[in-house]
Amino acid sequence: MRIDIVSVIPEILKGPFSNSIIKRAINKKIIEIYLHDLRKYGLGKRKKVDDYPYGGGSGMVIRIEPVYRCFHKLFSERNYDEKIFMTPDGNIFSQKYAYEFSCKKNIIILCGRYKGIDQRIRENLISKEISIGPYVLSGGELAAAVVVEAVTRLLPGVLNNPDSMITDTFQIGSIPPPPLYTRPLIYKGLSVPRILLSGHHQKIKDWFYKKSILKKKI
Ligand code: ADE
Repeated sequence: MRIDIVSVIPEILKGPFSNSIIKRAINKKIIEIYLHDLRKYGLGKRKKVDDYPYGGGSGMVIRIEPVYRCFHKLFSERNYDEKIFMTPDGNIFSQKYAYEFSCKKNIIILCGRYKGIDQRIRENLISKEISIGPYVLSGGELAAAVVVEAVTRLLPGVLNNPDSMITDTFQIGSIPPPPLYTRPLIYKGLSVPRILLSGHHQKIKDWFYKKSILKKKI
């Protein structure tokens, strides 16, 4: 899978992509991630990417030309299955979207900044508008990192133990994951439930199920 991320501050994304699961997926050539600096496609000597909003109001708006140029350069090289815009007023990201995106071959993610982007970009260059939650970040970069992480861990060969991905489905199904315990058996008087040491697989499964159901928020 290939992901192209377009941003005014692509440096923000270097950290999240050079560690842990994403780094491993890149090294294993399961995923390719390319960061594009929108400013490279900016206007004039100063590589301007934003301007004042028509009709007035505070804050700057990202102009269409730099985004159009950057996208069309990428379109001329390959087809994109999805062109995603990260924005607080988009559709709320969920595990369902993560599965959907993980099945695509090439996607572009555009990160917003400033007050927003020209509506003509949203209407003509974007196929999905995604929010990671009902709060406003200073830009879409950290939101894009969240999407990329959730998608990457679903790609075959990324997780060492694919079982942990299967149990993730607990979280998108009707019940939450059960409580988990590891060593030590007892810590400052706090002990692990005895049932987990019983060796009765069916009883343990039933216990996990019961605990999951009890955690379900209604
Ligand atoms: N950009 C700013 N806030 C955001 C959010 N909550 N989700 C996605 N992109 C954003």
